[in-house]
Amino acid sequence: MVPASVRLYRPEDRDRIRRICYLTGYMGEPVDWYWRDERSFADMWSSYYTDAEPESLFVVERGGAVAGYLFGCLDSRRAWNPAWIGARQAVTRLCLARLGTAGVIWRTVADVAIGRLVGRPPVETPFFDQRWPSHLHINLLPEARGSGAGRALVDAWFDRLRTAGSPGCHLETLAENIRAIGFFEAVGFTRFGEPQAVPGERSRDGMRLHRQVMVRSIA
Ligand SMILES: CC(C)(COP(=O)(O)OP(=O)(O)OC[C@H]1O[C@@H](n2cnc3c(N)ncnc32)[C@H](O)[C@@H]1OP(=O)(O)O)[C@@H](O)C(=O)NCCC(=O)NCCS
Repeated sequence: MVPASVRLYRPEDRDRIRRICYLTGYMGEPVDWYWRDERSFADMWSSYYTDAEPESLFVVERGGAVAGYLFGCLDSRRAWNPAWIGARQAVTRLCLARLGTAGVIWRTVADVAIGRLVGRPPVETPFFDQRWPSHLHINLLPEARGSGAGRALVDAWFDRLRTAGSPGCHLETLAENIRAIGFFEAVGFTRFGEPQAVPGERSRDGMRLHRQVMVRSIA
């Protein structure tokens, strides 16, 4: 297997990063089956990291091409909220009226409304706790998985957290993403709190999906 090499993000990686974000955004699979608009998806989930905090973005290269990334954020209160970016694009890119995106938006509205009616506590997202103020997202293309690249990215990120003086890092994943949870536990994260149903999100067979927070303190 070609060894993976980790390096800091460069501006010329931006398009490739946005593409990988779209190709891996559903538990490592492409998101096109439920969100057919790459630009708005990448804006929601990658623009803060490429455009506002690139010094916390690490990429992994295989055979000279970027094959994955770790998006880091030192102080999660500064990150742009994907829900607000999505709400803006629901109007400006007409996502709320287009086939391929409208379904998720209206299902989210319905889930929130029904949750309020039945008194279900809302999901507090993005998660924040000052014990783990930093956060990460990590995604590799299939060909880059299983050879140590994920651990190398997490190691690079924790070196940066130590240097920057952060006390800890959290992440939000899906409780249904069993493989990712196994990986995060292998690299030192533990589950924090109970899984909570995420408004609007469904599996391919229509089942509700649940947010799981995981945390790791700086040793
Ligand atoms: C999750 C992901 C980042 C892991 O990266 P990776 O390069 O495949 O993982 P690594 O090869 O670096 O594995 C690191 C360690 O985790 C362990 N590990 C990986 N997957 C595991 C699993 N499902 N269960 C238990 N341990 C696991 C490995 O055995 C390895 O342990 P070791 O270093 O002690 O030998 C990558 O597979 C991926 O991008 N998946 C799809 C996208 C995704 O789900 N991202 C997370 C969204 S929140």
